[in-house]
Amino acid sequence: MSKKHILLLPGDGIGHEVVREAVKVLHWFVAHGTFDLTFDEGLIGGSAYDAVGTPFPAETLRQAHAADAILLGAVGGPQWEGLDYSVRPERGLLAIRKELGLFANLRPALCFEALVDASSLKPEYVSGLDLMIVRELTGDVYFGTPRGVQMEDGELVGRNTMIYRASEVDRIARVALNLARGRLGRLCSVDKANVLETTEMWRNRVCAIHAEEYADVALSHMYVDNAAMQLVRNPKQFDVMVTGNLFGDILSDCAAMLTGSLGMLPSASLGERQENGKQAALYEPVHGSAPDIAGQDKANPLATILSVAMMLRLSFDAPHAASMIEKAVNHVLNEVRTADIMGAGKKLVGTSEMGDHVIACLDKLKLAQAA
Ligand code: IPM
Ligand code: MG
Repeated sequence: MSKKHILLLPGDGIGHEVVREAVKVLHWFVAHGTFDLTFDEGLIGGSAYDAVGTPFPAETLRQAHAADAILLGAVGGPQWEGLDYSVRPERGLLAIRKELGLFANLRPALCFEALVDASSLKPEYVSGLDLMIVRELTGDVYFGTPRGVQMEDGELVGRNTMIYRASEVDRIARVALNLARGRLGRLCSVDKANVLETTEMWRNRVCAIHAEEYADVALSHMYVDNAAMQLVRNPKQFDVMVTGNLFGDILSDCAAMLTGSLGMLPSASLGERQENGKQAALYEPVHGSAPDIAGQDKANPLATILSVAMMLRLSFDAPHAASMIEKAVNHVLNEVRTADIMGAGKKLVGTSEMGDHVIACLDKLKLAQAA
């Protein structure tokens, strides 16, 4: 039986509640003999700042290095908004990405059939939508230097630097091309090559890697402004999209909302696979810390539960267990809903009851398989 060590980083706000439900699901697989799991819990974000004065403590980094996979809740909240930029909760998130080299951010935008009506687009545009955004996560203007604001010639000047090395583009291109190969075989690379030289280089590198190693994948290119427009005009034209850190931040929120339910979307952030087979991996829901409903048993835990499914598939090589979770989530949506996705004729449930429904559904699926 595979033995794995998981670091839980609940973070702030609803992070605690949603991670608790996802852990219930992990325990279910332990109880059924699928995995042998050990857990550790660490601090990140505003709660880490309150406890030890930094959003990303050295101890958290040590725990992260020791884990086979990390499950993160969410960071941030109004009480930390006035803090200096260097110790804001979000810095904790950026730091863990950088320190662990989590360069590949996978953000699937999948429209659950039961939720088709929740989208702001007409059902025919989103029904069956299954799109994967691959966002580069450790480069670009997010981390480029020089950066900052300073006084120059009597006025404030702010600057940030968009920067990519060819090797950074090559490795994210390979991740995306590989994913496309396992799906419908189509990759759209998004850039602003008509204006920004950095992204012209991006386009050229993606073309080179494609020609050398992945000629079987159908590759296209799109400027980011057009891509944003196409996402809301006809999202089903896309299979996999790959783009840089900043464009990916923006486009992935847009794609997420197409599904009508930010509370449903998981994500994975992966590092390079080492020679010994190890690969740093962090899983988290796409939604934020929702401080307005924190601690009230109202939050939707399904995005975090689906992040566990991604963990099982990508880090623990357990595609069967992963699809059991996805099936269970699909099933429960027919009967129960948290407030954010409430629909006519469904029963309104809280965070922990939703978790219990997923567990009950896993029990049923298990019985059906045994029969
Ligand atoms: C995301 C978030 C983060 C980002 C923030 C919280 C730093 O928006 O994960 O998309 O910009 O990357
Ligand atoms: Mg974002």
